Amino acid sequence: MTSLPATAVRASAVEERVQELLARISLDQKIGQMTQPERLHVSPAEVKRFHIGSVLSGGGSCPGDNRPADWVAMNDAYWTASMEEDADHLAIPLLYGVDAIHGNANVLGATIFPHNIGLGAAGDPGLIERIGRVTAREVCAAGVDWTFAPTLAVARNPCWGRTYESYSEDPTLVARYAGRIVRGLQEAGVVACAKHWVGDGGTVGGVDQGDTVMGEEELRRMHIAPYVPALEAGVLTVMVSLSSWNGEKCHAHRYLIQDVLKGEMGFGGFVVSDWDGIDPVADDYGDAAAMAVNAGIDMFMVPETWRAFIAGLKEQVERGVVPVGRIDDAVARILQVKFASGLFDRPRPWARRGSNGSAFGSGEHRAVAREAVRKSLVLLKNEGGVLPLDKGARILVTGPAAHDRGRQCGGFTVEWQGVTGNAAIDGGTSIWEGIRAVAPGAVLRGGGDGATPAGDVPDARDFDAAVVVVGERPYAEGLGDIREPSPVRAGTNHLPGGPGVLQPYGNTLKLAALHPEALRTIRGLTAQGVPVVTVLVSGRPLVVNEELAASAGFVAAWLPGSEGAGVADVLFGDYDFVGRLPMSWPGKMPEGPGRGGRSGRGTALFPHGYGLRLL
Ligand code: GLC
Repeated sequence: MTSLPATAVRASAVEERVQELLARISLDQKIGQMTQPERLHVSPAEVKRFHIGSVLSGGGSCPGDNRPADWVAMNDAYWTASMEEDADHLAIPLLYGVDAIHGNANVLGATIFPHNIGLGAAGDPGLIERIGRVTAREVCAAGVDWTFAPTLAVARNPCWGRTYESYSEDPTLVARYAGRIVRGLQEAGVVACAKHWVGDGGTVGGVDQGDTVMGEEELRRMHIAPYVPALEAGVLTVMVSLSSWNGEKCHAHRYLIQDVLKGEMGFGGFVVSDWDGIDPVADDYGDAAAMAVNAGIDMFMVPETWRAFIAGLKEQVERGVVPVGRIDDAVARILQVKFASGLFDRPRPWARRGSNGSAFGSGEHRAVAREAVRKSLVLLKNEGGVLPLDKGARILVTGPAAHDRGRQCGGFTVEWQGVTGNAAIDGGTSIWEGIRAVAPGAVLRGGGDGATPAGDVPDARDFDAAVVVVGERPYAEGLGDIREPSPVRAGTNHLPGGPGVLQPYGNTLKLAALHPEALRTIRGLTAQGVPVVTVLVSGRPLVVNEELAASAGFVAAWLPGSEGAGVADVLFGDYDFVGRLPMSWPGKMPEGPGRGGRSGRGTALFPHGYGLRLL
């Protein structure tokens, strides 16, 4: 496994190789290196013909039977095409990118970690580095070289649909993790990508791709700060945010990209746009491309419009709107990353030692994920010592997320928006399967067994306690927003419903309004005299005052991933709770146009850092 140097990208030996190659490639090949189509819209032959520098898989865009071997075969075809040198094409290895943001979770059988918000609750930077290494091994097993992780967002409003991708509302916690996850990934052979530059988690009202309205001092303190340790750790790529800062799109923000990130902070890798991120920058596509390139973006995620991008950018260069020097700088950065990451020295994906690695989804890897689950759980209530549960007791387990490995994984899992049910999550354990393994007197009612519809109240008279697992369905990005449906939003072409159609998850953080079946079940069981332990599976804090009041015990489990058994490890006392809230927990919906201002946090029921212990 090639270990990536944590030192500066611009090592002198690399610099010489880059300049030598740069001097030999054509303008067409330079622009090709700056272009990143999505796999469904480009063939290996086109990769060679248009000198494409990178290809990506969007969430859920998986080859063949979606096993590591299928991914290796796909990547081998792309890589081989990129290396077929002839009179028109110099061999430059292709970089393949995926969203392995909580394990290589697109791929069937992968180890799927808790999403970042749960890792933030764990408060364990060493664990984060180990997760990075395991994730890198499972990315390499698929023959992939680059992950669009870590997300360094500082989520300031739980109404944001990407809150779960943030480690914390506290930039110091995000900063404590940033360098560790970058080292974990890159020292195990995968290029990391710090994202989304910058202020993605600070938009007014938590609107995804919205506007972060604040002065520069607050932007630097709150949202730029976590990137410093990531750069110090040698992160090789940075992705630009689809959001805006004070009304100006980050994708056209020369000051933030060229002056601050590359100039003042000395970032030596390359900057990649986000998906169709240049679309809203200008009405004319060529103008948008020119503005984004001149702002300092080096590679462009243009999944379907890549041909138009190439043609448009070439025309802008020929017209002198984009200086050749800027193109050369962009390509030099891309080549530097490919050299520094060892991509030029690696064999074809099919021949790499890590490809199809047997550790993929292994027990060793899953043990790390199960440890992460244990450490991520936050105990919010434990009335009458209902926890820890007795392994010999008669436990009724129910609720829609009790036996649903898909729900417990959340978004960016097998599909972009995630999946429900157990069929698509190959390996791992549901929360119920973890309980059943340690408590012989436990019985599942509803919640995936099909015996009773979710939301019905089972007969609990013969039980000592009940575990009710409730929460959110999986979602990703703007489809997870809590807000009124917005009419049109540019730059969201890939959302279901077509360009600009954005259907949020709901318009309130109140669980009782979003999923009333949860409260009905909790109250119905409590009314039968059985103490209820509620386990909340969600991508964020929700307003759960009524559910809390009706429960004896209440656990925030976030999105635990494939190893649901980690929940039972703590419910039954094999391990104590260590998790602390990475975000303050609201007691009511933030009011006002910004939903309680930019942060939406003036309504905390539990403060950031809160968490009970059993002992
Ligand atoms: C998405 C996300 C970004 C992701 C990219 C590729 O729109 O904003 O985080 O890495 O597209 O899937």
